[in-house]
Amino acid sequence: MVRTLDEVERVGVVGAGTMGSGIAQVAAQAGYDVTMRDIEQDFVDSGFETIEDSLDRFVARDSIDDEEKAGILDRIEGTTALADLADCDVVVEAALEEMDVKQDIFADLEAIVDEECLLATNTSTLSITTIASAIDSESRVVGLHFMNPVPVMEGVEIVEGEKSSADALELAHAFAADLGKTTWESDDKPGFVANRILMPWINEGIRAFDEGVATKEDIDTGMELGTNVPMGPLTLADHIGLDICLHASETLHEELGDRYKPAYLLKRKVAAGDLGKKTGEGFYEYD
Ligand code: 3HC
Repeated sequence: MVRTLDEVERVGVVGAGTMGSGIAQVAAQAGYDVTMRDIEQDFVDSGFETIEDSLDRFVARDSIDDEEKAGILDRIEGTTALADLADCDVVVEAALEEMDVKQDIFADLEAIVDEECLLATNTSTLSITTIASAIDSESRVVGLHFMNPVPVMEGVEIVEGEKSSADALELAHAFAADLGKTTWESDDKPGFVANRILMPWINEGIRAFDEGVATKEDIDTGMELGTNVPMGPLTLADHIGLDICLHASETLHEELGDRYKPAYLLKRKVAAGDLGKKTGEGFYEYD
């Protein structure tokens, strides 16, 4: 049995990248003590910079004041030692999207945390069941898939692995709700709900651009104004990161076949190192 929500005090986050730092931030904003771990101090520092930038935006629009910002930052401890997650009640893994890496982290975590700690993964496309198979206590593993940018996106996808227990799923829903998020549930099928539907949409936008259907601006405008989405496929791909889109598409392609084949131009952009907003260039250029 995992803990109930009222017993959760400290949240561990493995990975201080875009998603990990966002998860650490929203947990601290909800009042939890947080331990954010990455493998190098530089990554931890950069996670704190991302959090501070985001909190500054909340301050700018008077959602929080400077004192609250300082309190939120104080509640987050950074570390490079996984062992520092020992006293966590919930751990969310947001490390590299590689099965071996995630399985190793879960195996290490199982030896570090106590048996009532919920172990969640933020994986966007990998199988929860396969990740969980690396440990003995598989029933406490669930998918807790946050959306980017975590501090402003309301939705969180809860993924039920083959062995996920009812109490682990219940805590995942309750925890996400306590972070101010609204949840939906997906079975452990490739891409779950969000990326299974989003990635072909993005790839089709890239193909339409590559095949000269319209300019990139017109493809984005057409989808924004024509279907009321906040961002067209090319802008959204740049925001997510083209490497992440390619990786997710490759996993879906491998599992679900040709209808998920990544667009050729997506592969070429990633090969060229143009990964979107984070590198200053993707389909568009950024400061
Ligand atoms: N932290 C805090 N505040 C933020 C922020 C952040 N990281 N990012 C944006 N904001 C705030 C801005 O400060 C702004 O506040 P204001 O209205 O008071 O000025 C407000 O949000 C709107 O921001 P912008 O004006 O800069 O930009 P937008 O109007 O485009 O809104 C957005 C930003 C809400 C992120 C919107 O662009 C959007 O909905 N984009 C689509 C995001 C999306 O689809 N995400 C899912 C990606 S898929 C995924 O994550 C799954 C993964 O597995 C791949």
